[in-house]
Amino acid sequence: MIRPHMQHPQTDRQTMTTLARDRFLDDSLTGLNDSPKRLPCKYFYDRRGSQLFDQICETDEYYLTRTETTIMQRYAGEMGQCLGEGIRLVELGSGSSIKTRTLLDHLIDPVAYVPVDISREHLLASAEQISDEYPDIEILPVCADFTKPFTLPNPSAKPSHSAVYFPGSTIGNFQPQAAQKLLHSMAQMCGQQGGLLIGIDLQKDREILERAYNDDEGVTAAFNLNLLHRMRKELGATLDVEAFEHHAIYNQQQGRIEIYLRSQVEQTIHLDGQSVRLEEGELIHTEYSHKYTIDGFAQMAGEVGWTLRRSWTDANNYFAVLHLIVL
Ligand code: TRP
Repeated sequence: MIRPHMQHPQTDRQTMTTLARDRFLDDSLTGLNDSPKRLPCKYFYDRRGSQLFDQICETDEYYLTRTETTIMQRYAGEMGQCLGEGIRLVELGSGSSIKTRTLLDHLIDPVAYVPVDISREHLLASAEQISDEYPDIEILPVCADFTKPFTLPNPSAKPSHSAVYFPGSTIGNFQPQAAQKLLHSMAQMCGQQGGLLIGIDLQKDREILERAYNDDEGVTAAFNLNLLHRMRKELGATLDVEAFEHHAIYNQQQGRIEIYLRSQVEQTIHLDGQSVRLEEGELIHTEYSHKYTIDGFAQMAGEVGWTLRRSWTDANNYFAVLHLIVL
């Protein structure tokens, strides 16, 4: 059974598209006029960007997805036990719910699965599929931006409690304050006895980390540069994409990979009647990917109501999946 919940059911597709373009334009102008310059990472994921990201996950260098999948396959049984019987499972940024199936297979009589994603098409298509594969679980997709408040749909059967599933080390793409804010809202959403199953990428040797974001085939570079292609195509920006290069380095002190677009020449970007000058070698920040220790993460989450219950890692200690609860 599938019952979609839309945050803006009355808004038609055309209006949505215009709104989305305006927001992209606004955010781009704000970011480029900021110092240092930046462009928001949420615009990576158009159709081409999503394809490129899937390709990144398959490169030899990008160990994250593969490692997390291994952990899930090996320990999903234990995770299901820990999460408990009769839960409502909420997945934030569910995309095509690939890792979720391993988890759903091992949950004990779950009452509902609530995939939350901003991309409506993706969300509904994958909800449809999941619903066919898991006829006994009520599927309640929510089309929403999970960084903003949204209403959790109620299943027809009452769940014992709710648990959030947040895989992919997506939490690492938020700066510490924003990450904490999000963790806090998850705790509020789940309430007492609520659970959180979250994937985090662990701190490790610089070489391994930097390689993961600088694959030999240049897929990651293409993914990063796609943002500039989008600005040209969708916003009519004038800029020389060829004169930019992908730049990703590990900032050990901050425990994060920093991703930039670097202009190899002095150039001026024209966008919506404005001119933005770039020096030769100037960086535009596009994304951070924070790397944690299990203790460090538990402390950050602890400050907003979560208590670490269990953790699972791979043999190399590259990645961890944590189970936390609200006491
Ligand atoms: N969530 C992914 C990560 O932090 C996103 C990502 C992977 C990414 N490679 C990238 C973002 C390259 C920007 C550029 O690992």
